[in-house]
Amino acid sequence: MSEEEKNDKLPATGEILCTKRHKYEAAKLLGKGGFGAVFLVKREDGENFAMKCESYDVKKQVLSMDCKVLRGTFLIQSPHFCQVLDRGKVVDRFRFLIMKLVGRNLWDLRIDREPPKFTLNTSLKAAEQCLMAIQDLHSVGYLHRDIKPGNFAVGRPEANEHHNVFMLDFGLCRKFAGESTDKDLRMPRATAPFRGTTRYASMAALRQIEQSRKDDIEAWLYMVVEWTVGFLPWRRLKGQDKEEVLRWKEDIRTGEAYEDFMQGLPKRQFTEIMRYVDTLEYHSIPDYDYVHYCLQHACKQNNCGPTDPLDWDPGSKYHGPTFADREKKQKIAIAAGKAKDTSKEGSKEF
Ligand SMILES: Nc1ncnc2c1ncn2[C@@H]1O[C@H](COP(=O)(O)OP(=O)(O)O)[C@@H](O)[C@H]1O
Ligand SMILES: [Mg+2]
Repeated sequence: MSEEEKNDKLPATGEILCTKRHKYEAAKLLGKGGFGAVFLVKREDGENFAMKCESYDVKKQVLSMDCKVLRGTFLIQSPHFCQVLDRGKVVDRFRFLIMKLVGRNLWDLRIDREPPKFTLNTSLKAAEQCLMAIQDLHSVGYLHRDIKPGNFAVGRPEANEHHNVFMLDFGLCRKFAGESTDKDLRMPRATAPFRGTTRYASMAALRQIEQSRKDDIEAWLYMVVEWTVGFLPWRRLKGQDKEEVLRWKEDIRTGEAYEDFMQGLPKRQFTEIMRYVDTLEYHSIPDYDYVHYCLQHACKQNNCGPTDPLDWDPGSKYHGPTFADREKKQKIAIAAGKAKDTSKEGSKEF
């Protein structure tokens, strides 16, 4: 199927989409995949939102996963996820969901810089928020399985949310907790087809071993290294070069490749994180607090203060959510009886 044929079912700019409750105009294309796209849309009252749509031609539907996951994260009131506000379909063409509009993704923000890397202060602050987002996602029973910079975005400056990092794209999520009791892990499959993005994928994912919570953390680490240094040693390899990328990831753990890999990073703390992630097994519950502690330590050692500005807002003090805020909010949510595991709920029509 040609690119054009693939996408001719998707909305055109200017098209009006109706749901039971509202009308939206597709104003601007924000991102496009094989069988899907994300648009900036304008509601009839003038408010802007993001619309994620998925063509009827898609072999494996994933939009309902986005919906299910975002319902779970909404119920725990995590500040790192977009709220889904509406959904609908244009029969025989595409299904769509309407969600909160955020700003630029962390891939675009990095590559627009010269050289293409973040300051250590920004990398560590974004790393902290992404780690919290991963922990929140895991707490509602899902693995992301495609942790990468294009799947995180900052909020919009107009909404004063540009110090907040949001996790996006739940199409490859998998529920890791069993169906019978919330706390039981699902039995790992003997082999699991590759899911994710080769550059950031964990070693287990590249070996087609069933992924677990540790694999999201390992991918997060590669993403943070790329932000900090500006590249990963395997940057020239393509998606299909899985074995070579896997070899690189094995190599950077010892000897000369390890020394090279740690160049430009807070070596002690990043080594600690990597060694820690490598001790984790399928069943392990990652100690997010320990990883966070290593990040804090890296900040202190490199004089990154708690309110030092982010690269994309150099004029203001950092005011993004922190680990301490999250703990406070979760306690309040638990007290209000809201923080329940909702991951078993099916996706309902709005
Ligand atoms: N809620 C949103 N607000 C603004 N931009 C978004 C939103 N969701 C996604 N995007 C943009 O669209 C891109 C693709 O979205 P994503 O959900 O990752 O879909 P895909 O499955 O195509 O990767 C993102 O990298 C981001 O730049
Ligand atoms: Mg994506």
